Amino acid sequence: MTQQPAPHSQDQLHFDQIIEEDSRIEPRDWMPDGYRRTLTRQISQHAHSEIIGMQPEANWISRAPSLKRKAILMAKVQDEAGHGLYLYSAAETLGTSRDELVEQLLSGQAKYSSIFNYPARTWADIGAIGWLVDGAAICNQVPLCRCSYGPYARAMVRICKEESFHQRQGWEILYELSHGTPEQKQMAQEAINRFYGPALQMFGPPDGDSPHSQQSMAWNIKRFSNDELRQRFVDMIVPQAEALGLHFEDPDLKWNEERGHYDFGELDWAEFRSVIQGNGPCNSQRMQRRRQAHEDGAWVREAAAAYAQKCADAVQVDSRPGALNTSMEERTPAHV
Ligand SMILES: [Fe+2]
Ligand SMILES: [Fe+2]
Repeated sequence: MTQQPAPHSQDQLHFDQIIEEDSRIEPRDWMPDGYRRTLTRQISQHAHSEIIGMQPEANWISRAPSLKRKAILMAKVQDEAGHGLYLYSAAETLGTSRDELVEQLLSGQAKYSSIFNYPARTWADIGAIGWLVDGAAICNQVPLCRCSYGPYARAMVRICKEESFHQRQGWEILYELSHGTPEQKQMAQEAINRFYGPALQMFGPPDGDSPHSQQSMAWNIKRFSNDELRQRFVDMIVPQAEALGLHFEDPDLKWNEERGHYDFGELDWAEFRSVIQGNGPCNSQRMQRRRQAHEDGAWVREAAAAYAQKCADAVQVDSRPGALNTSMEERTPAHV
C-alpha cells in the first residue's frame, strides 16, 4: 500500500469538492487513506469473488446437457475471469500490487462473497446461480457504475453489461426446466429453494449491523444501503418467479400495499456469519482449489514475466540512435 504524506488542507478541500460535485476521483488525485483502504478492500474482495465464483459453474461445464449449453456456460465462466482481471487492475491503481492482493486471498486474510461457498448440486442450480446470484450482483453493481472512484466505476459499466447476459441465461435454463417434465420442474424449484436465502444475503448484513456503510455512502462509493438494495432485488425477482411458474418458500413473502414493496422473512444471519467465518459447505474446497490453480499457473506467470523482460530489453536496444532497424531484423526469424 502506498504511504501518503500528511494531507495538505488544500488537498482535502479539493477531494471534498470532487465528492460534493458528484464527480470522479482518479488514481493520481490525492485521497484520504481511509478512502484508499476502503476501496482497495472492496474492489479486491469483488475481484476475488469473481475468480472464486468461477468454480461452482466450471464444475458443470463437462456435465452441461448439450454442446450449446456447454459453450454458453464456458463463455460465462470466461466472462467472470475477465471481471476478476478488470477489478484487480482497478484495485492496483490504488497502489497495492496484484501479487499482494492475490496473496491476501490465498492466505485467507481477504474475503470473497459467501455465496460461492455453496455447492452447485444439480444442473438447475446453474440456472438458479445465473438468475439469482448474478441477478443480485447486478442490483449491487449497477449503482457502482456511479461510484466516485473512476477506475472502479468504469470497470463496473462493462461488467454490468455482461452480468445481464448471465442473469438472462440462468433464467432461461430455469424456464426450460420449469416447462419440462414434472421431475425437471421439481429440480428447478429445489434449486431456487436452496439459493433464495443465500442470494438475499449477498447484499450484506442488515443496515443496523453494517458499520462502514455510512462512510461509504458519504464518499459516494455506495449509493444505496444493503436493505434498500435487498428490497429492490426481492421486488424484482418475485414477478420473475411467477413468470417461471415457480415460487419462493418464504411464508412471510407477500405484497405490502402500504409500502408498495414485498415483505419477506428474516434471513438466517447466524448461517451467514458462519459461512463468512469459513464454515460453509465448500469454503475449504474452494480455497484448496484456488491455491492449487495458483501453483499450477506459476510457470505461466514466470513465462509472461520473462517475455515482458525480453520485450523491455528489445525496446532499450531499439531506443539507441540508428539501432531500430537492426533490432527489428534480429527479432525476425530468417525463414519468415
Ligand atoms: Fe461477474
Ligand atoms: Fe456473472
